Amino acid sequence: MGGLAARSLLGAAETRRPASDATANADFFVRNHFAVPKISDETWTLDVAGLVSKPVRLSYPDLLLMPSVRQAVTLECAGNPPGGAIVGTSVWSGVPLAALLKQADVRQGASTVVLHGADSGDGEGIPPGTHFARAIPIEKAMEPSTLLAYEMNGDPLPAAHGFPVRALVSGWYGMDSVKWLTRIEVLNQPFAGYFQQEEYVSVRGNGERQPITRMSVSSKMVRPSEGEEIRSGAYRVEGLAWAGERKVAKVQVRVSGSGDWQPANLRASPVAMVWTPWSYEWRIPRSGQYTLDVRATDEDGNTQPDAHDPDRKDPYQLNTPHRVKVNVRF
Ligand code: MTE
Repeated sequence: MGGLAARSLLGAAETRRPASDATANADFFVRNHFAVPKISDETWTLDVAGLVSKPVRLSYPDLLLMPSVRQAVTLECAGNPPGGAIVGTSVWSGVPLAALLKQADVRQGASTVVLHGADSGDGEGIPPGTHFARAIPIEKAMEPSTLLAYEMNGDPLPAAHGFPVRALVSGWYGMDSVKWLTRIEVLNQPFAGYFQQEEYVSVRGNGERQPITRMSVSSKMVRPSEGEEIRSGAYRVEGLAWAGERKVAKVQVRVSGSGDWQPANLRASPVAMVWTPWSYEWRIPRSGQYTLDVRATDEDGNTQPDAHDPDRKDPYQLNTPHRVKVNVRF
């Protein structure tokens, strides 16, 4: 964590966050369904079409010349397991999607905005020629925090992260932040694309299906790591907690043997959309094997559940406490 570019940006009063809050671009997870498409910024265009009065076609320079915003946002993949690394935070720069939709003059009755990516392929039951596309409700598309992002920690978007432009649907799981954007389509009905209907859907025992959308409250330990040997009776446990569109309200740590959840210290004022660093001063009574658990609660009182909902048949939203086992010898 903490690349140079991120350091200078996050040091700014804008976010009042220490540098280590951001993930360096080189360390940021990559989740692709298909091969990275080869796109030249000289020929790339972005279309806004569908239920609009004035369809728009923009070049890369057109987009760069629009008024831009910069915001720190934590992105997590819907399949990230407890304590997993498929989560990262970056300072993103770009244009609010709402500005483009206003320019295109969205017509009455619009309900859905489809974000189409340039990448396509097949495999694992995916019909040949399918491209990656996801839809979000028009209300989410119009939120000022929903961006068309072209910079990541002050650098042009790396190819793997969507160069030249990606969507950034802040506070929602990563699948909606469509990379290599080429077309934005406004509809007055739900979108029936493969990745909308077959993947990123919650499935209940009775067959009920719901799209995966907002990120749930979650947290992880950064130190200690699994199996770490600790050689002292005083140890600072450190980690990160996040809650999508909501702020983190509290973080708690439980040490095996004691049974109780103990409060951890939040090391920055929680901000919506961005993870919050936390720490816990662990006074270790004696040598031995210990299990540490961490859980967070968001500002609406949602706490990470002790166990994954047994009625959920899909592999998403796995936000049970992160557990780490360590050996202490001193
Ligand atoms: N956009 C396109 N075009 N193709 C993809 O495969 N993967 C999605 C999303 N956007 C994907 C995409 C998923 S599942 C996630 S979690 C995020 O991108 C990951 O973004 P990152 O690779 O920049 O970390």
